[in-house]
This record gives sequence, C-alpha cells and structure tokens, in this order.
Amino acid sequence: MSLLKLFSFHLIFTLSVFTLAESANEYYTTRWSRCFYSSPDLSDMVYIDSYYFNKYLMTQFNSTLGKYVGFSEYGMSNAEFWNNDTSILQGEIGDVDVFCKHNAQLWDSAVRNKAVNPKVKISSVTRAGGRHPAVLMCSAYEFYPQHIKVSWLRDGKEVTSDVTSTMEMADGDWYYQIHSELEYTPKSGEKISCVVEHASFNKPMIYDWEPSLPESERNKIAIGSSGLVLGIILAAAGLIYYKKKSSGRILVPN
Ligand SMILES: *[C@@H]1O[C@H](CO)[C@@H](O)[C@H](O)[C@H]1NC(C)=O
Ligand SMILES: *[C@@H]1O[C@H](CO)[C@@H](O)[C@H](O)[C@H]1NC(C)=O
Repeated sequence: MSLLKLFSFHLIFTLSVFTLAESANEYYTTRWSRCFYSSPDLSDMVYIDSYYFNKYLMTQFNSTLGKYVGFSEYGMSNAEFWNNDTSILQGEIGDVDVFCKHNAQLWDSAVRNKAVNPKVKISSVTRAGGRHPAVLMCSAYEFYPQHIKVSWLRDGKEVTSDVTSTMEMADGDWYYQIHSELEYTPKSGEKISCVVEHASFNKPMIYDWEPSLPESERNKIAIGSSGLVLGIILAAAGLIYYKKKSSGRILVPN
C-alpha cells in the first residue's frame, strides 16, 4: 500500500451549524461548512459551504466551481446576488486556505501522525476439514492507523502458502483489528512466528508461538508441583522442630 493511501482520509468538519427557531412554527436555517481532502499536502482541498432552510438545500458554495449554486427559486436568486458580490465570493474562496487548510493542519498534527501499536495474540484454532491438521491464528487488536502487515515465519523462513487473512476491520473507535490464519502440519522442534509490521513500530515485530501443553499434562505438572511444595514445607517444619529440641538439650561430656 502506498504512503499516500496510508495517509489519505477525508476529514469533514463544521464551521457553524446554527439554528434559528421562530417560536410559533420552528423554521430552521442551517449552514454546513465542509472541507474535503485526501492529499497529505492539502493541495486537493475542496470547500463546500451549504445553506439549508428546513433541511432543504437552498444555496451552496463549491470551491471547485469558485461560485455559489442555487437549488430553489429563492436559492438561485441568492446565488446570483452573492456571486455578484466580489467581497462575499472572495471571502468564500479565501476560506479554502484560511478555514480549511488552517484547520486541517491542526487536525493533522493531532491525528495523522499518531500511531497506536497493536496488541498481538497467537492462538491455536480448531478447523475441521482443512488440508493440514493444525491452524494458528495471529490477531492484532486496537492499532492505528489502518495499514498493517501480518506474515508468518517457520524456522525463520516466510510462509506464503496456506495463509489467509482478513482485511483490517474498523472497530468504529478509530482502532482496527486484523486476523491471519496459518494452516500447517506440525513438525517437532520447529519454531513458528507471526511478524507484524506497523507504523507504530520502528522495526518488524516477531511473536513466537509457544504451544501450551495439553490439559492432562498441565494437571500432572500441577499435582506434582503442589506435592513438592508440601514436601518442602514439611521438611522445613521438621528441621525447625529438630533445631528447637536440640538447642534445649545440655550436652554432658563423658
Ligand atoms: C463541486 O463541484 C465539482 C465540479 O463541478 C463537482 O465535481 C463536485 O461534485 C461538487 N461538489 C459538491 C459537494 O457538490
Ligand atoms: C450586480 O452588481 C451590480 C453592480 O454592483 C448591480 O448593478 C447589479 O444590480 C447586481 N446584480 C444582481 C443580480 O444583484
């Protein structure tokens, strides 16, 4: 993905949305000012300034056209009147720089250059009917920006086949998640790793798969280690008891 794609997004912000309510009938006049751009240098900035009456678009300034356009009889006469006034028109054209680009720079510095690193987890998943008996899933959560690369290594070599990945999925709160699956036939002693490349890291991050032991093995270890702990406690108690006893005894020389 190109740098431009990575950095490109639309930012829409509102200059003023004001509402005039006439007490009896509640008429609403709304002005909605939007700035559209996708280029990091803001060179493709477009300013759209829309005037509504009761949700109906009446008149709209479009910086690409450099003038107002009317959308109703009243809106059209408004557009004609405003287009005839160079000071109004120059004000709107000037807002591409004064309002849009100025604010976009502020927003960009607050958002665009920020990166949040992904939380990465590798898990074993069961999948019936695959070509290989085992499936690993590498999941990256809560990262920003969207662009990311997740790949797999087997003993340090990149795996290209039997890998499937989701798209970067938007969580809806600026963060993204992605999941990549590796189908494989386990070989004893091999090392499998998931590699994550993201703007928040200054180098590719490698996460090794550490297969956890099966349940029965874990139980054996748990029982064995608690037995060991109990043994140590009993031995220590016995030693303390012996010391106490022996220090109370007076040795009589023969
Ligand atoms: C602004 O004008 C351009 C050029 O005519 C047009 O392509 C674009 O759709 C217009 N934008 C809006 C929001 O109407
Ligand atoms: C446009 O401006 C000129 C001179 O300022 C004026 O004579 C004319 O009536 C204006 N036309 C409209 C439609 O407002």
